[in-house]
Amino acid sequence: MIDSLSIKPTILVIEDEMTQRNLLKKKIEKLGYHVLTAENGGDGIATWSKDMMAIRIVITDLLMPHTDGFQVIKEIRAQEKLRTYIMALTTRDDKEALIKALSTGADDFVAKPIVSEELTLRLRGARRLLRLQDHHCLVSGLAELAAERGGESSAHLQRTKQYCAVLAADLMKEREDQEITEQLVEDIATMSVLHDIGKNGIPDALLMKRGRYTPKEYEIVKEHTVIGGKILMDLYQQTGSHYLLLGHEIALSHHEKWDGSGYPHGLKGLAIPLAARIMCFVDVFDNLLSRKPYKDAMPISFVEKYVHEEMGVSFDPDIVACYGRNKPRFLEIQRALPEREERW
Ligand SMILES: [Fe+2]
Ligand SMILES: [Fe+2]
Repeated sequence: MIDSLSIKPTILVIEDEMTQRNLLKKKIEKLGYHVLTAENGGDGIATWSKDMMAIRIVITDLLMPHTDGFQVIKEIRAQEKLRTYIMALTTRDDKEALIKALSTGADDFVAKPIVSEELTLRLRGARRLLRLQDHHCLVSGLAELAAERGGESSAHLQRTKQYCAVLAADLMKEREDQEITEQLVEDIATMSVLHDIGKNGIPDALLMKRGRYTPKEYEIVKEHTVIGGKILMDLYQQTGSHYLLLGHEIALSHHEKWDGSGYPHGLKGLAIPLAARIMCFVDVFDNLLSRKPYKDAMPISFVEKYVHEEMGVSFDPDIVACYGRNKPRFLEIQRALPEREERW
């Protein structure tokens, strides 16, 4: 059985020079890590592949005979299942190698000769980032659970994620005001899977109910927006990570409508955050096209008609226009990600 208290974070050091390798090992061990070493790139990759779930940080020299550090970085990026934090060992004035390492996929660097204080700070940064990513995995797992309980599939999460990416990327191209960046496009898509995370706080009996909700029940179900918004706001306040704030906006406001008739706050028009306006559209679009316990899948002709009728009512007109420009891509995504099995 794994005992969490006995686990020390593992770092792999790949360095061909023995003195440098041993020195680095000693310094890192003093900081409380378990250190594995490899004396060349090939051995380094082999050691990492054997235990990639435990080795979350790799420090690799760049210039080594045969398999060099750049190949190590490429190989790890190609094989990793969980993000491995890679630090390149560079000589202080070799800017060219440093830039090449970072553009190949290294996350950070440690300059030789190694200064202990610098190493401590850089490793602290590495662990902070890995912790955020672990948070991310945990939160995505909760999102799947919430979706499953709420009668939505993981395919729905994947489709809506891709629709979000298409819409946000198109809006970025359309507008030249720099408000939407590539990072924002990626973050909106990543965070979209959390839209119904608040359903974890709604009783099973309601989520699984097949008939219509009574007005009182509906009020309870609507609370999933506030619950989800709070979960993500709490995480944001603990970590300061901006993408969680985006997740908060999506979870809280994905049922707001353009004309102000949505919930939980009856926000109107541009007062609804952009990510939530996008989410609202793709969620409804995908739900109409999917079979549910209480309804059949609607044909695309019906969905198109509905979307146009709701333009300026439920949906932001800009987003409906954006959908219009990308319709073939939407249909491709829908075909590529069908429901895995007959769910109902
Ligand atoms: Fe929802
Ligand atoms: Fe949904």
